[in-house]
Amino acid sequence: MTETMKVVQIHSFGGPEVLQFEDAPRPEPAARQVLVRVHAAGVNPVDWKIREGKFGQIPFPSIMGSDFSGEVEALGPNVEEFRVGEQVFGSVADASGSYAQYALAPVSHIVEKPKQIDHVTAAAMPVPAMTAWQALFDEAKLEPGQKVLIHAASGAVGNFAVQFAKWKGAYVIGTASGSNADLVRNAGADEFIDYHKTRFEEAVRDVDVVFDTVGGETQERSWKVLKKGGMLVSIVQPPSEQSAKAHNVRGVFMREDATRTEELMQISKLITNGQIKVNVQTILPLSEARKAQDLSQSGHARGKIVLKVEE
Ligand SMILES: NC(=O)c1ccc[n+]([C@@H]2O[C@H](COP(=O)([O-])OP(=O)(O)OC[C@H]3O[C@@H](n4cnc5c(N)ncnc54)[C@H](OP(=O)(O)O)[C@@H]3O)[C@@H](O)[C@H]2O)c1
Repeated sequence: MTETMKVVQIHSFGGPEVLQFEDAPRPEPAARQVLVRVHAAGVNPVDWKIREGKFGQIPFPSIMGSDFSGEVEALGPNVEEFRVGEQVFGSVADASGSYAQYALAPVSHIVEKPKQIDHVTAAAMPVPAMTAWQALFDEAKLEPGQKVLIHAASGAVGNFAVQFAKWKGAYVIGTASGSNADLVRNAGADEFIDYHKTRFEEAVRDVDVVFDTVGGETQERSWKVLKKGGMLVSIVQPPSEQSAKAHNVRGVFMREDATRTEELMQISKLITNGQIKVNVQTILPLSEARKAQDLSQSGHARGKIVLKVEE
């Protein structure tokens, strides 16, 4: 008899109402996969974007979510890096979802969870922390002493980005609403800009790097704050080549690469030694995934949202 598990999945694209908290068959790990008993699942904006069909066709039913922290329950063939009972965290790949009691993860997407980091904290890390790291260091090659403008510094990615940039020794300017000023300053920002009150392009200049986590008009208005030769990295939409050229700067679009797990390990070390904090602001049970995605989709979540799967 097939064993079942509780999941949050969708049978069609749509609003939060298509998220169903229900039973599904427990999957079996294939070669180079592990089956993880999920303790906590991170909620990312990409989850509701997939739910709405913005990333194209997916097979239905489809279990939502990518980030997780949990315990290895079973190993697929040819897995030597992990053992049953080991605590791991990371992301699933396309064919699985982390809003579930059990998830399949490729060995290329997971690392051992340090004991000092609890499951909720670990589940809050993979996509946002790796995205911020890769944008600042792999793409923009941020150096100590450089000036960086980070948009949505109170969001999940932005909050990691402020801390990473500060840790690197950069001068950090963060944007968010006034109600999030403390959160951004506590993360280490040297300057805070309330985007409701101040047009950032009038308050900031000669920036080496803009980290665009908002897109649209915010991206368009960001070109003029860059110094000649500076760089805008967007994780939301490809920047206009024409605008970059007109301002004598570079613009790139980046997608997070979940297989650079050595970066996740390095970030874990910074967290265990207290140099970086993970800012989880909302913890909800798996059964309240609709509420979690509603908050994410509002565009105004503070810090990170995590679903607790196992008490
Ligand atoms: N390309 C990739 O690989 C990749 C990876 C991860 C994320 N992303 C994308 O990056 C975006 C950010 O992700 P996230 O997880 O950080 O989102 P998030 O946590 O939901 O971000 C919410 C934050 O954005 C702030 N915000 C909203 N509009 C703003 C504006 N105009 N100016 C400044 N701040 C603003 C809000 O602050 P206030 O409430 O103060 O307005 C809120 O704190 C999402 O679109 C996500 O899909 C892409």
